[in-house]
Amino acid sequence: MTGQAMGSERSRYSSVAIGFHWIIGLLVILNIALVFIAEDMEGASRGQIMTAHKAIGISVLFLSLGRLFWRLGHRPPPLPGAIPAWQRALARANHILFYVLMIGIPLSGWMWMSAGLKRDERPISFFGLFDVPFLPVPRGEASGAFLSGAHETMGLAMIALILLHVAGVVKHHLVDRDPILRRMTPG
Ligand code: HEM
Ligand code: HEM
Repeated sequence: MTGQAMGSERSRYSSVAIGFHWIIGLLVILNIALVFIAEDMEGASRGQIMTAHKAIGISVLFLSLGRLFWRLGHRPPPLPGAIPAWQRALARANHILFYVLMIGIPLSGWMWMSAGLKRDERPISFFGLFDVPFLPVPRGEASGAFLSGAHETMGLAMIALILLHVAGVVKHHLVDRDPILRRMTPG
């Protein structure tokens, strides 16, 4: 890894970046799938799935903060020279927005639950290990409605961004046949 982290000829992300990418990426996709699964359910099973959604979301928040701090101190490998400027700009904007959403979505979910009038009856359990403390946000219908709207809007933006991101990677891999995917795969 030290060798990868140094040298201007480096063409792949480091193992740390790859680890963060795939762990957070899979957890985000799983968390989106869980709300859609819970949509058609009722009662206790729905409650269990939403409890998992919240705990996974809190994990994504702290992993993403760790990833952001790590990323600020480590430059990504340069893109292959053949990639046009507009695609570089799109990828960069896409990546910045990913970081905003990876932090903004779980934070808004946590704030939303903290604003709830019934929050004391419904603690956020972290996989049964401990209860996550509530954040100091104004409690009440108005702030709850604002935060749930923010959570939903950012959640939809995340779905759109993942589709755009994956479509870009698939195009590079299958149509342009360049090594973009290999930049983010281990081994
Ligand atoms: C099957 C799904 C996915 C594939 C195949 C994939 C693939 C890739 C690849 C190949 C790169 C490197 C692009 C480059 O060279 O600049 C990348 C970067 C990135 N991906 Fe994904 N990705 C996937 C899902 C996700 C998801 C779900 C997220 C967000 C939660 C995500 C967030 C990012 C970010 C933020 C970067 C930029 C890394 C950085 O510079 O810090 N990806 N992805
Ligand atoms: C990776 C982080 C997260 C992602 C990607 C995510 C995504 C989503 C999405 C897409 C929805 C559906 C929005 C809608 O159409 O109404 C949703 C709903 C919800 N989320 Fe999250 N969320 C995350 C983290 C959290 C956290 C940390 C909490 C609370 C601590 C939370 C609480 C909720 C609740 C209560 C709902 C409403 C479900 C319902 O009853 O319809 N989420 N989330």
